[in-house]
Amino acid sequence: MKKVHVNTGKPYDIFIERGITENCGEYIRNVSKAKKAMIISDTNVSPIYGERVKKSLSEFGFDTFSFVFKAGEQSKRLDTVYSMYSELTDNGFTRSDIIVALGGGVTGDMAGFAAATYLRGIDFVQIPTSLLSQVDSSVGGKTGVDIPQGKNLVGAFWQPSAVLIDPDTLDTLTPHFFADGMGEVIKYGCIKSTELFDILESCDNIKSIIDDIIYRCVSIKRDVVERDETDKGERALLNFGHTLGHAIEKEHNFQEISHGQAVAVGMVMITKASEEKGISEKGTANRISELCIKYNLPVSDRISLESIVKSSFSDKKSTGSSISLVVLDRIGSSRIFSVKKADMFDFCNV
Ligand code: GLY
Repeated sequence: MKKVHVNTGKPYDIFIERGITENCGEYIRNVSKAKKAMIISDTNVSPIYGERVKKSLSEFGFDTFSFVFKAGEQSKRLDTVYSMYSELTDNGFTRSDIIVALGGGVTGDMAGFAAATYLRGIDFVQIPTSLLSQVDSSVGGKTGVDIPQGKNLVGAFWQPSAVLIDPDTLDTLTPHFFADGMGEVIKYGCIKSTELFDILESCDNIKSIIDDIIYRCVSIKRDVVERDETDKGERALLNFGHTLGHAIEKEHNFQEISHGQAVAVGMVMITKASEEKGISEKGTANRISELCIKYNLPVSDRISLESIVKSSFSDKKSTGSSISLVVLDRIGSSRIFSVKKADMFDFCNV
């Protein structure tokens, strides 16, 4: 078992252990005196892991309840959260009870947001079951929902009481969703760790070392989040590839292309541009591109650069007349680089 302690305003531990889903009750009891636990999950994950989580919670004295929503980004809306509030109030959940988020990024973000706002905040635990949520979204306390104007535009910082990562759950992921998570894994190597990037380049069986890879990614994220919990500075580096990536996702109406795929394209596009401008070491874009291809991720997209750039102006990191991009000096070293919106097309046009 690997453990990563996160020293944020509310400190908590991340546990990485095969089979932890079956013993989750014990870990959750260690961080909560709650009488009731609401398991929030979706229609894909609940049938596979719902019962074992419920059983383990019951063994440790929790009265368990379940809220299951239709799987998919389309459910990540305020009305789904409203239905969660109804389920919580109908079952008499108080401030001392707990929410258990069981699933991928959509589940964790939305259940976390319900936890942050129900009765002005109750505890929650993350049990992420996708690679993307295990290496990224379950850690750091960003919770929220999408609104028609954009993704994650409504939310709150609300740290979980614990994160329980079971790499066995990756066995039920399709190759598409595994690749999706690899987009974020590659991002961590790019922004902070040459060692991780080198491992990804040389490895010929990623699944055999995935526990260590998850550990490395969450440790990087922990370090960044501890220094900048509320995303006022360094945490923005975690958005490498995301400004153009989000724009690509938006141009596809959040269909056809997944988050990790769009981030892969975004990382390659922005690094080609920064390399061209002499910001990034020569050959960096090519290394990222080859790594993305190795892990079944796309490196270009059919949407025109003009539309991508235009769409990127509604990014949360876009302020006034400038846009803050994350660029690499070289693999493992990243920084923020501000570009005037008026120059953004020329900057990206290589
Ligand atoms: N996924 C980016 C962040 O947590 O800040």
